[in-house]
Amino acid sequence: MKHCLSLQDFSADEVTHLVRLALKIKKNPQQYNQLLRGRWLLMLFQKSSTRTRLSFEMGIKQLGGNSVVMDWDASNFAISPIRYEARYVSQHAHLIMARLKTHTDLLKLAEYSRVPVINGCDDTFHPCQALADLTTVFETAGTFQHQTLCYVGIHNNVANSLALGCARAGVHLILVTPEANKPAHKTEMLDKLEADGHLSRTLDVKQAIAKAGFVYTDTWVDMEFFKDPAYQDEKERRLKTMLPYQLNRENMGDSDAYILHDMPIHPGYEITEDLVESPRSLIYRQAENRLYAQQALALHLLDTPLP
Ligand code: CP
Repeated sequence: MKHCLSLQDFSADEVTHLVRLALKIKKNPQQYNQLLRGRWLLMLFQKSSTRTRLSFEMGIKQLGGNSVVMDWDASNFAISPIRYEARYVSQHAHLIMARLKTHTDLLKLAEYSRVPVINGCDDTFHPCQALADLTTVFETAGTFQHQTLCYVGIHNNVANSLALGCARAGVHLILVTPEANKPAHKTEMLDKLEADGHLSRTLDVKQAIAKAGFVYTDTWVDMEFFKDPAYQDEKERRLKTMLPYQLNRENMGDSDAYILHDMPIHPGYEITEDLVESPRSLIYRQAENRLYAQQALALHLLDTPLP
């Protein structure tokens, strides 16, 4: 049984297969619309979501399957060891997607689940997002060859998953990440990817953007802290430190790179409104591709014969 806890769980061939399959489903959805008939997806949420919730729920239904949503904190996952609850819920589902606060809890869930578990974003990885991002790069460029993606922002779960995904796809990644979310910073993994030539790191934002065909940013403050009064001082400090790294016209210079953002967007912080709405913005296509990338992932994890 295979899980998707991070893109470390997938080979280069598997990542390419998932991206190609996602685009095939997008082109001909009717060929896939009964493949998961009778299958149930359980979605566990410990944090809020718009895209992950909608795209998984619609995605599984479009493949002929069904889904149930469970709020972690309103369930007994909140008051009992994960191993017992995981064994129980996985008797009723064929697939689990979990958005949990910590990767440690996700690993426990997967250890005791009887069915494949998909990481719907935790403090360390966001593999579904990276699969959708790579699908968008491939759809736009027609190839992964000679593609460079520059990620500018806080080093977080999205940056980790991009690092792994780009390495597998053969897309060169430039990281411009002056600050890191501490639990997310996988120093050893990043050092190895850099030593192997898959990524480079710099703080020269203008030079990095000038080298890239795709420029990507994400929130400077994680969703669970954005409105937390206890986090306000750190939020203010971060905003000041990160402002020189905002995606804006000045930092873009003469670049006509495509603009990526995994959403939710905080205009005026990590990106200016004009870039969100610019003709080079792929942000909504990238968000739309979550659905197809996750459909491909579900079919793959469930070993579904393809048409
Ligand atoms: N990008 C992303 O995961 O969006 P949500 O947090 O809305 O699910």
